[in-house]
Amino acid sequence: MDYDTPLFFHVMSYATDADRDVIDMVSGNPDWGSPPGIAEGLHEYADLGGEDFQYPPSEGLVELREEIAARRDVDVSQVVVTAGGGEANYLAMARAMEREAGDEFILTDPVYPYYPGKTTMLDAKQRFVATAEDGTLDPDDVREAASEDTAGIVVNSPNNPTGAVYDEESMRELVEIAEEYDALLVSDEVYDHFDFSGKFTSALTFDSDHRVVTNSFSKSLAITGFRVGYAIFPPDLVDVAKTRHMLTNVAGSRPSQYAVLHALRETTREYYEENRRLLESRIETFTDALDAAGADYTTPDGAFYVMARFPDFPGTLSNVEKLIDEAGVAGMPGEAFGSSRDDWVRFALVTPRAEEAAERLADYFSDR
Ligand SMILES: Cc1ncc(COP(=O)(O)O)c(C=O)c1O
Repeated sequence: MDYDTPLFFHVMSYATDADRDVIDMVSGNPDWGSPPGIAEGLHEYADLGGEDFQYPPSEGLVELREEIAARRDVDVSQVVVTAGGGEANYLAMARAMEREAGDEFILTDPVYPYYPGKTTMLDAKQRFVATAEDGTLDPDDVREAASEDTAGIVVNSPNNPTGAVYDEESMRELVEIAEEYDALLVSDEVYDHFDFSGKFTSALTFDSDHRVVTNSFSKSLAITGFRVGYAIFPPDLVDVAKTRHMLTNVAGSRPSQYAVLHALRETTREYYEENRRLLESRIETFTDALDAAGADYTTPDGAFYVMARFPDFPGTLSNVEKLIDEAGVAGMPGEAFGSSRDDWVRFALVTPRAEEAAERLADYFSDR
């Protein structure tokens, strides 16, 4: 089987090896720091020792699953705590294939590249549905692509890389389409705390036994290194997913889950609001400078990525390498996200140097 190493790793190592100062706008690691509850939880955990240093329940610490279930208004048995949203998406997609109701995933173009990667790994087929220029998805296009071969429909809102947030009507229809075609809607909601539009609607809003919601604390609590996320499965599908999780991982990381539980209980709304405000102001500064560089760009409704298109400068890997060497700014080539955005470059605004990066880009393109 042919696995492609995500292009991300190539760009990251190219930027690290560059012979100059490079502003990293490739990785999605929040730079604003975790809420204090994370460090407090870790300190508290460090003194427990003994039994608390041994295997946690495979599906996650009971109290963490209860906390998640209460917040999401689902039964605790439906919650599987995973190694980030990455594993949650894998379990959901694998579960869709195991139903033996189709072997094809409907994905969007542009797409978060790990979905086609996982599709290949699961020996499934893929069919892409193009989004609108602003990244929104027309459910009618998904309906047209759906068939009895459809095992799953994988969507992500707020979206990486477009910044689109799907509205309530779209989410409702996506759940309905999954039901109509006996497929599973996999709704990846890892950026749910980063909605600037007020439009975000979780797929959990619509009760259905044809949807799995995946989420993560990586971004919302700024802990991409902790590896804690979760999936919420329909009651009839959850047991097999728990078994796959157990056979793959045995169990998740207990200190990480302990700290997340502590932080969930302690963190106030202000933490999330402050980070949203910080991002909004960064987006404004960055896009203002892109105006100065004569670029087209997307203004995200959510998540933390801006896509930009520079005159006569397609978003190929070699141009991205050029930007690293000549402008000192690292972004992701648009071609990594499917065929529809290959003129574009994606920039992650999770660096305090976003403004400086925009100035570097403006200088670079005004000199060309
Ligand atoms: C859309 C999307 N889903 C899932 C993930 C994986 O996140 P994690 O596994 O750290 O929770 C990311 C990370 O960037 C993402 O952008």
